[in-house]
Amino acid sequence: MQDKIKDLNEKLAQAQLGGGEKRIEKQHASKKLTARERVQYVLDEGSFEEIGALVTHRTKDFGMDKQQFYGDGVVTGYGTIDGRLVYIFAQDFTVFGGSLSETHAEKICKIMDLAVKVGAPLIGLNDSGGARIQEGVRSLGGYADIFYRNVQASGVIPQLSAIMGPCAGGAVYSPAMTDFTLMVENTSYMFVTGPNVVKTVTNEAVTSEELGGASTHASKSGVAHKTSANDVECLEDIKKLLSYLPQNNQEKPQALPYELGDELRDQLASIVPDNANKPYDMHEVITGIIDADSFYEIHKDHAENIIVGFARLGGKSIGIVANQPMFLAGVLDVNSSKKAARFVRFCDAFNIPLLTLEDVPGFLPGTDQEWNGIIVHGAKLLYAFSEATVPRITVITRKAYGGAYDVMNSKHIGSDMNFAWPSAEIAVMGAKGAAEIIFRKEIKDASDPEAKWKEKEAEYAEKFANPYSATERGFIDEVILPKDTRRKLIKAFAMLEDKKVDVPKRKHGNIPL
Ligand code: HXC
Repeated sequence: MQDKIKDLNEKLAQAQLGGGEKRIEKQHASKKLTARERVQYVLDEGSFEEIGALVTHRTKDFGMDKQQFYGDGVVTGYGTIDGRLVYIFAQDFTVFGGSLSETHAEKICKIMDLAVKVGAPLIGLNDSGGARIQEGVRSLGGYADIFYRNVQASGVIPQLSAIMGPCAGGAVYSPAMTDFTLMVENTSYMFVTGPNVVKTVTNEAVTSEELGGASTHASKSGVAHKTSANDVECLEDIKKLLSYLPQNNQEKPQALPYELGDELRDQLASIVPDNANKPYDMHEVITGIIDADSFYEIHKDHAENIIVGFARLGGKSIGIVANQPMFLAGVLDVNSSKKAARFVRFCDAFNIPLLTLEDVPGFLPGTDQEWNGIIVHGAKLLYAFSEATVPRITVITRKAYGGAYDVMNSKHIGSDMNFAWPSAEIAVMGAKGAAEIIFRKEIKDASDPEAKWKEKEAEYAEKFANPYSATERGFIDEVILPKDTRRKLIKAFAMLEDKKVDVPKRKHGNIPL
């Protein structure tokens, strides 16, 4: 027995070393932690239980039978984060560049299956040269096995991906089908085809970082939901993000203690400027309403005309969708509609109530928007809100114009409580444009057309640039003082806690993709 125990311990010790000390040094020299260090860091101390530490690949071609590393390039298992069960895989770049073989894929699939059966989040730490080239189609099959499971698990358990090294080719589609993709700046990249292929096919000269680095995907493409300066920050981000989420779609997120902090709310009344054309930072409104320091922004640098993120309100996790007057006056366009729609659907899938903060002048006009399909993309947001059955509340801080009024979680598409500040303007369009259209003849025939236009603009503004016309019809439930917003929202969400909506039976809806 003693010999057998010694033998096992030697094997396990070897597994700990991955591809060996030299390659570990290289990994550190590239400013990256190893797969095992990442797992140890992100999980509660001592909680990791490894599954499949002694798995090896089955390939004999190209001299591979002489190159065996325990674990086959991926560390898999389970543990806890803040005491809550999670399943985790971390690709080990020190073993064949973290490339995905048939057995590597089987290890990942095994913990994915467990995560779904048990109902706990899945965390994937990606750092891989892609398909194990020596294995050919078996590796591709392994990827597809993972993709399939990503889809089956979607909306059932939260799936989080961190990109902490290369992630190229078809490999990008597993993270893309998970709920959140976090990237590490300067050490990670994602692309379907790399700079060399790009150069050959399109003659564009581009670096890996420009093509698919963290900042590119966080700002331009929106593929990355969040970026971090290094591995440790990225792993901290994962922990924080998980704290807002339930374990699965049958549960609600954990609630935490909170303080009302009423004395801090007076400043809310001075955020919206008197001049309706002046911008203000919607983050200030968010901060004035939510529990202290609880905002976790998603897609911060992408489509900045809309803000989305998680927060705590009265200790409970909520999702916030807010127009941002600081960028493009807070209009809805292609990217902001897609960004918000995806967030709304995530929250709805995982029982996270939604708060909408609205100051929207409408949809962005122009050929660029129309030719890029603002009709279908705007419809995504309308669809996402309309199908969401979680508690939904809207606060209109200023503008709610045109179709965007309907889209931004209006009462008509199933919102539960709609509040407006006294500064709200709820109308088909701005007073200036409206006056020009409906009083065109009168303005043209006037001795002083400019003065007439101004007069008619004021007339229209007097009638509609306020919250009362909508309130009289019940489209707004209550006009509230800014300083009361936090209390009102906490009470309204508590009132909606047990909301239940029966939806007609169907296979699935047909969201305009
Ligand atoms: C097998 C691989 C590998 C791979 C890297 N390695 N990628 N082994 N299959 N795909 C090995 C290397 O041979 C090397 O082994 C070790 O990993 C580290 O690689 P280096 O090249 O030394 O590292 P680095 O200079 O940092 O470059 C990393 C890299 C490069 C940019 C990822 O390795 C690379 O370009 N790899 C090939 C990428 C690729 O074309 N993959 C297939 C894509 S197609 P030693 O023994 O020296 O340590 C694909 C399709 C997926 O993925 C489709 C899914 C549907």
